[in-house]
Amino acid sequence: MRRSSSVFRLSPGGWEWLKRTRTNRLRETSLRVILDNQAENGAFPACPNMPDYRFSWFRDGAYIAHALTLDGEYISERRGWSMGAQWESAFRFHNWCAARINERAERLERAIAVATSGGTPDLSDVLNARYGLEGLEGPDDWPEFQLDGPGTWLWSLAEYVARVGFTPLPVVWESAIVLTARYLAAMWRVPCYDCWEERGTEIHTSTLAAIHAGLTAAEKLVPELDFTGVKADIRAFVLERCLTPGGELAKSVGLDMVDANLIMTAVPHGMFAPDDPIMVRTVERIERELHAKSGGVHRHLADVYYGGGAWVLLSLHLAWYYAERGDRDRAKALLQWVETQADADGHLPEQVNSSMLAPDHYEPWVAQRGPIACPLLWTHAEYLIVQHLTS
Ligand code: BGC
Repeated sequence: MRRSSSVFRLSPGGWEWLKRTRTNRLRETSLRVILDNQAENGAFPACPNMPDYRFSWFRDGAYIAHALTLDGEYISERRGWSMGAQWESAFRFHNWCAARINERAERLERAIAVATSGGTPDLSDVLNARYGLEGLEGPDDWPEFQLDGPGTWLWSLAEYVARVGFTPLPVVWESAIVLTARYLAAMWRVPCYDCWEERGTEIHTSTLAAIHAGLTAAEKLVPELDFTGVKADIRAFVLERCLTPGGELAKSVGLDMVDANLIMTAVPHGMFAPDDPIMVRTVERIERELHAKSGGVHRHLADVYYGGGAWVLLSLHLAWYYAERGDRDRAKALLQWVETQADADGHLPEQVNSSMLAPDHYEPWVAQRGPIACPLLWTHAEYLIVQHLTS
């Protein structure tokens, strides 16, 4: 895909400058993979060469935009704090999200009304997890109803606005923020698919944390909003219903099982501090059960997707957690392992199959979808984030 034309686009000289100032090639490649694959309208494909992933997800894009927000500071400091290509790219993604949300206002209002009166909204009225790059809904056979994505988008947008100093907010952003936040506040008790697009009839702890973070972000972005009561209810629900018998956070209500996505509950969603005893217990169990000896972190013990491999993305997320907890050495060790997983082009995959929980399932997935997604833009984004935090 061609890079978009824009006044903010890095000139060939700019790329040369970037190369000279960057010591780390993988960091440079990560930025290129992200910027080069962005569509004209701001959408990011999850992976450019896998048909099922040539869609733009709120969740993946929110992390990608956050990486660009952080990396843009790196550029801008050396360029008199002018808006770098990264900030312009993140801006266009946020615009893309706002457009997807605003154009569905009527349907979302219907979902809000039904959920507020205790009903279950019609699936045709909820936000999809992903949209085609042109902004249209994808084929119907996808587990689209996922509430963590819009929550994570609001978090990413608030980070962008605060770090870039972007005020006043465009009117279309403000209407999308208010609508998304009202939607999440009305819908948080409705079971939906988790961030792995699984278990669509349950309530998931990491999804609740993403919703909670989204509501906090919306309050920062639009000070007239106040979700104090809903946020207190969500937190109380998590403490009452989302713990395992061992006192760790549970993957979903009623399960004595952890999932590596629970790391997101602390970082970036901030529902618990990284060193909160609940979080420490949860990460200890994730390390024990899901951190592969050969490197990489499995999603959860029941995973069969591509044989239930070890996710490079989740090693980076664990590194992000340790960096936020002040353990840079551990974060750096994880980062170094990730660097050994890049292919000859410097591309990072979603997961690797050096460790599989369900090896019999690997070939069937390859036959159905092709090789493991690579490059995965979200993995490259997490690489930039952890690089930023540890360098
Ligand atoms: C993952 C999702 C992700 C999507 C695109 C799926 O396999 O489970 O979390 O958003 O791929 O990267």
